[in-house]
Amino acid sequence: MDYLQLEGIKSLNGTIKISGAKNASLPLIAMTILAKNSIHIKNLPHVVDINTLLKLLTNLGATCDFRDDRVVVDTSTITETKATYDIVKTMRASILVLGPILTRFGHCEVSLPGGCAIGQRPVDLHLKALEQMGASIAIKNGYIEASAPNGLKGCPIIFDKITVTGTANIVMAAALAHGNTTITNAAREPEVVQLCEILNANGVKIDGIGTAVLTVHGTNGKCIDIQEFTVIPDRIEAGTYLCAGAITHSELTISHVEPKHLGSVLAKLEEMGSTFTQTEDTITIHPSQNIKPVKITTQEYPAFPTDMQAQFLALATQADGVSIIEERLFENRFMHVSELQRMGADITLNGSVATVSGKNSLSGTDVMATDLRASSALVLAALVAEGTTNIHRIYHLDRGYDRLKEKLEDVGAKIKRLKD
Ligand code: UD1
Repeated sequence: MDYLQLEGIKSLNGTIKISGAKNASLPLIAMTILAKNSIHIKNLPHVVDINTLLKLLTNLGATCDFRDDRVVVDTSTITETKATYDIVKTMRASILVLGPILTRFGHCEVSLPGGCAIGQRPVDLHLKALEQMGASIAIKNGYIEASAPNGLKGCPIIFDKITVTGTANIVMAAALAHGNTTITNAAREPEVVQLCEILNANGVKIDGIGTAVLTVHGTNGKCIDIQEFTVIPDRIEAGTYLCAGAITHSELTISHVEPKHLGSVLAKLEEMGSTFTQTEDTITIHPSQNIKPVKITTQEYPAFPTDMQAQFLALATQADGVSIIEERLFENRFMHVSELQRMGADITLNGSVATVSGKNSLSGTDVMATDLRASSALVLAALVAEGTTNIHRIYHLDRGYDRLKEKLEDVGAKIKRLKD
């Protein structure tokens, strides 16, 4: 199995180009199921999760031609409506095909996603909403079996909790439904906004885009034509590299980025003493003398993202003072804490609150990546640790970071990808 080997360094310098957003690409690829034409998608990241979803679509009978950072997807040849366990077990976001397949074909089976490293992550809200739209849903032999032979019917949906993939799934289901669907307490993440904007520009009228109340005007079962589009930049990848700049006290530029998607992340970095220069699509972080402690609570967009919690926890180990980081979205998203402790971090966990007492001298050792964002926290810690850090199980990183080793190497990191 591959692992990453990093040496602690003095500083980074240069520019990192940000890739397309994984979490935007996944629903956008699932959205192609609603189309009757073949669709060109530009700026896709080279990450394993994208390959997994394209493989799922291929298994259903679609054709997917992925070259460089572009894919052409033709779903007009789909004959199967079952997303099997072997794929879903590797990626929970496979659930994103449920809404579009069901609304287009009147039937869909998706292996029930199990728990995962960061918590239970149920899909009950997706299923309840589809039932409200007229689908019959049963759980049999580990599969969600959904049917709506006469199509789905638009209706009011109120999500008990804000769910990102749940909102995307129901927006896609509602796109081909009969009548209008109003989703209250919808997610407002930029990735959901892009999905809505593309549907809205291609024949599915959606009101309230970017707000917590979306009204989707269904096409009464008619598939749509979708024109070529470009995936938005990955705000979590961008935030991770800004943390790399902050933790190493470096001057680092990230390019091909959308600064307005990073508001809460930049605000917390500023509180920690960082300063920035921005253009329309670049952010340069300037070296700071000292890192200040911070208080963070993860919440839904536009508040501070749970997907940046682990990276800020690593950064807080280098702050002068006590930082408090509260995780509100996922109950088990502190798996990186024990690995950071093994590197010398002084972190106390009390339920969903981590208290980091900095500044800690970290030292390199063997550590284990436990989930996608936890892995990047270990990379950040390794950049400033004394000596060599070996990060194992980096298949987690490969799921969501496009060419991380190459991008960090280009700005001066001492990083190698090796095999056990
Ligand atoms: C998405 C992101 C993930 C991010 C998360 C929160 C993708 C592919 N993944 O995950 O990177 O960390 O948003 O920003 O975009 N919940 C329920 N029932 C449901 C659905 C969700 O109880 O049916 C709960 C979850 O357990 C969690 C909370 O709602 O506590 C938010 O989860 P959700 O927004 O659905 O996360 P994902 O869409 O899976």
